[in-house]
Amino acid sequence: MSQQVQEVHQHYIAGEFTEGEGDETFESVNPATGETIAEFHRGTEADVERAIEAADAAAEEWRELSYIDRAEYLWEIYHELRDRHEELGEVVTRECGKEISEGKADVTEAWHMVEWAAGDARHPQGDVVPSEIAAKDAYMRRKPRGVVGCITPWNFPVAIPFWHMAVALVHGNTVVWKPAEQTPLCGQVIAEMFEETGIPEGVFNMIQGYGDAGAAIVDSPDIDTVLFTGSAEVGHSIADAVGGEPGKLAACEMGGKNGIVITESADLDIAVHSAVMSSFKTTGQRCVSSERLIVHEDVYDEFKERFVEVAEGISVGDPLEEETFMGPAIEPEHVEKIQKYNDLAREEATEVLVDRTELADDEIPDGHEAGNWVGPFVYEVDYDDEGELRSIREEVFGPHVALMKYSGDIERGVDIHNDTPYGLAGAIVSEDYRQVNYFRDNAEIGLAYGNLPCIGAEVHLPFGGVKKSGNGYPSAREVIEAVTERTAWTLNNSKDIQMAQGLSADIKTSDDE
Ligand code: UN1
Repeated sequence: MSQQVQEVHQHYIAGEFTEGEGDETFESVNPATGETIAEFHRGTEADVERAIEAADAAAEEWRELSYIDRAEYLWEIYHELRDRHEELGEVVTRECGKEISEGKADVTEAWHMVEWAAGDARHPQGDVVPSEIAAKDAYMRRKPRGVVGCITPWNFPVAIPFWHMAVALVHGNTVVWKPAEQTPLCGQVIAEMFEETGIPEGVFNMIQGYGDAGAAIVDSPDIDTVLFTGSAEVGHSIADAVGGEPGKLAACEMGGKNGIVITESADLDIAVHSAVMSSFKTTGQRCVSSERLIVHEDVYDEFKERFVEVAEGISVGDPLEEETFMGPAIEPEHVEKIQKYNDLAREEATEVLVDRTELADDEIPDGHEAGNWVGPFVYEVDYDDEGELRSIREEVFGPHVALMKYSGDIERGVDIHNDTPYGLAGAIVSEDYRQVNYFRDNAEIGLAYGNLPCIGAEVHLPFGGVKKSGNGYPSAREVIEAVTERTAWTLNNSKDIQMAQGLSADIKTSDDE
């Protein structure tokens, strides 16, 4: 029997697929089954350097095209993403384990971003600004920054790459992208789409690999902007590394320890629904997932009973099945991390309410024994006595959620909500508009919701956090600020030079005295 030769997927550099310089390969693994999906060449520093050289060489010609011409390439990708929605949604689900409606939503979010960026090409791209001097015309004009390095996470393996790349490209930058090592097949598919558009060589480059390839992007003096979405640990090290380099910029979006405040006037149907969605959708593996539920004492017992009942019953299983609510965790190391935090919470909690850390054998679907299974974990802490509990401060990135009771007014609920070094997303559930408005104005977060889950932001909103969660907005309209330079351009239409601020334009010489 002839042995079937499996293709080893390549990088995309300077307009072609290439094996690169290294001899190592790595595999993408289905987190629900443990099966190998595909094999990839592992990028080296030399591969990254070549990609950056190609992006640098392509920059001049690319920036000379009009916004609208550049956007044409993106429109082709938009149609491709739409036409292949089902198929690509399945690729996402097979590679990152999100249940199938989420796999498809990832692709939808990607085309929304492409549509936004390409559509924006026909919108005004600067400002006409008044001048104090009537004879002067003043403008703010934008220029591309140059070569943009994009480092993206596995949990939104199609959408987030387009958050970064669609705007960067339409605004005239060239791109070197490293997809997450857990989801390289999504990277391969996206690279194939770019190739099919016939985009000029070097404008889009992709290197498959690990953190060392990402670090080579961050450290290169020829990268002008780094866009990063992922863990706080990596994001802060990128921001530190780039911060010291003049002229270079990093926009980083990182995690959160997100909370939902449920007040005494909450509609508890909305509260339970929002909390379940926020804590368990994507198996808690969104940057915006909620790991803290801050509930007023008047409704605490009823909320707790109802939330616990749903958490006990939530369906964990094959992410390709439509009945599944929660798929697996991304990889075995991540299951271990979640288990460790569940252990920690067992020590710190006043009571553990739901513990599905280890799923029963009959909960695991046939053929999925090697998947990375973990179910909901819900516990109660006494916030007033807590001292410095780590379980309610550190991001777990899993279906791990603390219930905290509060007494008193909305100010107290929001104080507890804000008592975290992070500040990405959060929600309030309340029928009292004064409480809702108080939360809107005082919650220290970038994405705030009322009577809704704290997940599911639309791409045309600014997406990003405050405090430890972000130092820039690598998504949608805010990316424009990260990938462009502003020129304040002032033109004098008069033969005389007149200055603003009443500054004298008279030239005085010693002869004038
Ligand atoms: C992330 O949390 O990692 O707001 C990104 C949302 C999605 C993006 C989430 N649009 O839930």
